[in-house]
Amino acid sequence: QATYPFYGKHQSGIVTAAQDRLHFAAFDVSEGTTRDDLVGLLKDWSYAAARMTRGEEVSKSGATGGSLYAPPDDTGEALGLPAAGLTITIGFGPSLFDDRFGLASKRPPRLIDLPSFAGDNLDDAMSGGDLCIQACSDDPQIAVHAIRNLSRIAFGRAGLRWSQLGFGRTSSTTRGQATPRNLFGFKDGTANLKAEDSALVAKDVWASASHGADWMDGGSYLVSRKIRMQIETWDHQSLKEQQTVVGRDKGAGAPLSGGTEFSAIDFHAKRDGAPAVPTTSHVSLAHPDHNGGAQLLRRGYNFVDGNDSLGRLNAGLFFICYQNDPENQFVRIQTALAANDAMNEYVQHVSSGIFAVPPGASRGGYVGETLF
Ligand code: HEM
Repeated sequence: QATYPFYGKHQSGIVTAAQDRLHFAAFDVSEGTTRDDLVGLLKDWSYAAARMTRGEEVSKSGATGGSLYAPPDDTGEALGLPAAGLTITIGFGPSLFDDRFGLASKRPPRLIDLPSFAGDNLDDAMSGGDLCIQACSDDPQIAVHAIRNLSRIAFGRAGLRWSQLGFGRTSSTTRGQATPRNLFGFKDGTANLKAEDSALVAKDVWASASHGADWMDGGSYLVSRKIRMQIETWDHQSLKEQQTVVGRDKGAGAPLSGGTEFSAIDFHAKRDGAPAVPTTSHVSLAHPDHNGGAQLLRRGYNFVDGNDSLGRLNAGLFFICYQNDPENQFVRIQTALAANDAMNEYVQHVSSGIFAVPPGASRGGYVGETLF
């Protein structure tokens, strides 16, 4: 069973080999919380997170070692379970950088407010947030235990705004991983930035002091989009239509221009006089060649939140991506997709978030220590 370090130059949970499960949570800082309280919360979160990622309880006394007459520090459902590759990644939303905490002048210029995109149907209550925590693990109980206990630690200082469970990673972030499939049944994560592409990761994922915020050096920017997929409509489409929408074949994941899964896409190849990879296909519009070279490290998950009143599964993809320049990476690509992607007939974006993910904490320090 894997364990990943909590302390380090970068936070874990970004280039870490994508685990199988997600619990993502966004928080708002509670009224009356001071700057010192906020720093205290980040210290308490970091201490507990470091312990949980080692497979330990949130505190030394934990679930059963404290007073018989007080609620235990740890809620207990992870007792006896290993860390299962748990990573806890903490981010700061644009709304944190206001007068409440004297942080307005520290807002990184690259932590933009996302524009609205054609077709967005966002639920405000399920979007944004002052703080976020991405907990990933190979065991759903471990990811949920982490968010539950960090929410409990935040009590009185920050409260849950919204949260999302995910299963079945929809990307690979290392070359050693097989490409998984999303709920459309297609391989997802083939053309993703991978941990081994260290020069590209340095260029496109990690923030540097030269980007206008010293304290973000070694951090990154996370964009989350909850994307509902109309899977019942999709399931009525022919295999040909499905492949035309994606631009890849469903079995092997090869581009429609030919080859195997990892063959480069040939946008000049023709079939029956038309581009073999249609210009309105998802991979064509999302490809770096058509977006000024922009690339993302995608790290999303499938979700199924029960069903709606019409008896359709409330299912989709909780899209997460990391980059160091959201305006010229996510926004650029999503603008192209929103305008022309053949997939738009089957998807709808219902929640959105953007967060500055600070660098990793120094040993014994806390996430955010370079900001305060
Ligand atoms: C590629 C599915 C949303 C960006 C792909 C692929 C699939 C896929 C099947 C091809 C395999 C691969 O290369 O990974 C989906 C589904 C989505 C979704 C089902 C929504 C429910 C998005 C969004 C973005 C995005 C919102 C960014 C704004 C990309 C990129 C590629 C890609 C950059 C790689 C293109 C290339 O270089 O060939 N997606 N995607 N996707 N997607 Fe998506």
